[in-house]
Amino acid sequence: MATAPNIGISAKQRADIAQGLNKVLADSYALYLKTHGYHWNVRGPYFQSLHILLEGQYNEEWAALDLIAERIRALGELAPQGYAAFGNLSSIKDGDGEKDWESMIKELLADNETVIATLRGAIEAPDEAGDEATVDLYTQRLAAHEKHAWMLRSTLSK
Ligand SMILES: [Fe+2]
Repeated sequence: MATAPNIGISAKQRADIAQGLNKVLADSYALYLKTHGYHWNVRGPYFQSLHILLEGQYNEEWAALDLIAERIRALGELAPQGYAAFGNLSSIKDGDGEKDWESMIKELLADNETVIATLRGAIEAPDEAGDEATVDLYTQRLAAHEKHAWMLRSTLSK
């Protein structure tokens, strides 16, 4: 058996924090996949600007997945992997390329807000355990998804 991390956080707290990180990772992965898919399939008079907007968002989201998964590993737990595992953990549904651009952007806005709610729900466990590294990661993810949500919301404003 591998040596347990001696990082000033109890085994119970590490497991609780990792459970929150698993959910954050799964929701983030599902949102990444949907944003990339809508980057491919979005259509209409605003194609070029939406295509580029979504590219910026999925690239940012993709880079964050590795940080979230590696935080789980640093806490001594295994990161979930694979479509089935993420599908079971995530509350974000797959996208539908048949939708019109406005429905796609509305859906991505709601999904970013879902990730924000998941992050807010998950931040209490590391905060109480004095796990500043996870709190810091969550704070950065909140700022990123709140910014993505702002840009999507502004795209929908008349
Ligand atoms: Fe592309």
